[in-house]
Amino acid sequence: RTVAILAGGLNHERDVSIHSGRRVAGALAEAGFHVKMLDVDSNLLQRLDAIEPDVVWPLIHGSTGEDGSLQDLLELIGLPYVGSNAHGCRLGFQKPVAKTILSNVGIAVPDSTSLPQSLFREVGATAILDLVAARYGFPVVVKPAAGGSALGVSIVSEAKDLPGAMVDSFAYGNQVLIEKYIAGSEVAVSVIEVEKGEPFALPPVEIVTNGRYDYDARYNAGRSEYFVPARLSDDLLDRCMEAALTAHRTLHLRHISRTDLIVDADGTPWFIDVNSAPGMTQTSLLPQAVTRYAEENGMAPTDLYAQIVEAALT
Ligand code: DAL
Repeated sequence: RTVAILAGGLNHERDVSIHSGRRVAGALAEAGFHVKMLDVDSNLLQRLDAIEPDVVWPLIHGSTGEDGSLQDLLELIGLPYVGSNAHGCRLGFQKPVAKTILSNVGIAVPDSTSLPQSLFREVGATAILDLVAARYGFPVVVKPAAGGSALGVSIVSEAKDLPGAMVDSFAYGNQVLIEKYIAGSEVAVSVIEVEKGEPFALPPVEIVTNGRYDYDARYNAGRSEYFVPARLSDDLLDRCMEAALTAHRTLHLRHISRTDLIVDADGTPWFIDVNSAPGMTQTSLLPQAVTRYAEENGMAPTDLYAQIVEAALT
């Protein structure tokens, strides 16, 4: 079987995507697949035509790969692929959309306001500062409404830093989210679905960072510490896994997803984000959960990656 891994692309997470692609390519080659890695640019269709893969694994993070564009294209040309369809990707990618939908099914989501750049220009920074101070107080989290790898994300503790943080976020898209800051443990729960309609959660991963879990802390080995499973009570681990499964099902995700949560001091898991193409780099969270799950179940991590590909083929 030939698997085409799509990695690279032309957005801010290009490097992460290439690392994810290489790592999955290695695992699938070990599992006996014939693997080709392709970049995503205007020659993509010709390249796919040339190698005639049995299945495609899109590993583009962020726009194109997680906003549904690539999946629309793969549907159009009739190639089976790993991961969510365009509809699921779109629901998950836009944070305000995902948060609204998940809040409606009872998941705790931090209160937030989403603002287009045009409004920022129109009403000015002072009006926005007044709104944020009245509604949330400080600190708040400022982030692009759609984006990944913590790019353009700031925790703003003082009003004077809010306009600058918004400008940073607008560098990654024309909509920002200003979100109530939740203090607590950062926990990521990956979900795998190799039998249609029967997703299961992998052991939650807890992230401990000296400072913020930013781009640097995510991708430089040794900058963050990880605990798998997260150091939470069994009851809380179950609640985190349940929240991730609800996000996966409710947002119509498929095969693989990762939900990022913050568990506060009262034991509430707050939904922060969901990824339809989670990072697969050496320091990424899903591969760590896969390794732990594989150990617990007496299998090799590559077996699980192979099962995911087989699921896309059926
Ligand atoms: N957006 C990156 C790749 C992640 O969430 O892992």
